[in-house]
Amino acid sequence: MPDLIYDNHGRPITYLRLAVTDRCNLRCFYCMPAEGIRYLPKKELLTYEEMLRMVSLMAEMGVSKVRITGGEPFIRRELMYFLRQLSQIKGIRDINITTNGVLTTEHVPELKQLGIRSVNLSLDTFDAERFKEITRRDEFDKVRDCFEQLMAHKIPTKINAVVMEGKNTEDIVPLSELSRDYPVDVRFIEEMPFNGEGSHYPVLVWTHRKILEKLKECYPDIQKAKDPVHSTAYNYLIPGHQGAVGIIAAFSRTFCGSCNRIRVTAQGTLKTCLYDEGVLDIRQLLRSGASHEEIKAALKNAFSHRPKDGFEAEKSRQSLHPASESMSTIGG
Ligand code: GTP
Ligand code: 5AD
Ligand code: SF4
Repeated sequence: MPDLIYDNHGRPITYLRLAVTDRCNLRCFYCMPAEGIRYLPKKELLTYEEMLRMVSLMAEMGVSKVRITGGEPFIRRELMYFLRQLSQIKGIRDINITTNGVLTTEHVPELKQLGIRSVNLSLDTFDAERFKEITRRDEFDKVRDCFEQLMAHKIPTKINAVVMEGKNTEDIVPLSELSRDYPVDVRFIEEMPFNGEGSHYPVLVWTHRKILEKLKECYPDIQKAKDPVHSTAYNYLIPGHQGAVGIIAAFSRTFCGSCNRIRVTAQGTLKTCLYDEGVLDIRQLLRSGASHEEIKAALKNAFSHRPKDGFEAEKSRQSLHPASESMSTIGG
């Protein structure tokens, strides 16, 4: 195992969130305006070969977990080819995917076969009508099929639900109930301002505290679970439930102290915090003929200048302040 690289705040960097596309087949209103966002031309995206080289170098630096994000990852052509190659990289022990489930179902058997560690399914409601309102697309049945298929193949699955005032708060209980009926973790997420609309900066009504109050009201026996070290979620157990329910304080940013995550956007920009505006153009380095050692040195340098938390990262932005680009561009 390679020595781990620690950032300037003593946090090991072991987890890469890699966006393979900025495109999405849904239009969730908390992520994008109805008309969509301006997508990148194809030549601006990292190629799979470039991504594989980059991940191999990061693995040599101690990254062992990769999460594939987007946009919607399964929109990118030949994603399964890429996952097969990725699963061969020495040192990458843990491959995960965050998906909206619309195009995923047919690939579930191969995901299982490849040993994909877990799938996080973005699903804000289990009600077809509300799904259509939130995502502006009529695709609920496909997502439900994907969920069933993941369960049938016993792939560890987490459901991600962004909690939004006036949109899906009535779903908190039905979604939590899924963790009774299935071995699935359900995580309720604070809404962040990454909606691609600079002008619509949401006032956070459903804070992590308010979500917890609601859960306690509905499940008086709920108990705090022990969280994995680098977990974004505070997890809780409800007696009789197979899975946990969790709360992700994504906007309140309460978990930065143990943050082991870096991100690479679909166009190859390194972000050392979700809230920064990009700190290194890896694509340019990859395409300029830089050697393995030069690329690793540039990454190491970026890791040694990380903001201590998401608030410091947001303050350091030169443009688009406060942060408001689409989550689809950032890559989750
Ligand atoms: P696990 O690997 O299963 O722990 O998943 P994860 O929580 O790292 O990833 P996922 O893609 O499921 O993200 C769930 C929610 O947490 C999304 O809204 C993410 O944007 C948010 N999130 C993930 N990582 C971070 C982070 O580093 N900072 C903040 N503020 N939010 C994050
Ligand atoms: N606020 C919080 N979470 C968001 N996601 C997308 N946009 C936002 C936002 N504005 C979530 C999706 C997905 C995960 C990667 O990020 O629900 O599950
Ligand atoms: Fe890490 Fe930034 Fe997220 Fe905090 S807000 S957990 S520092 S990525």
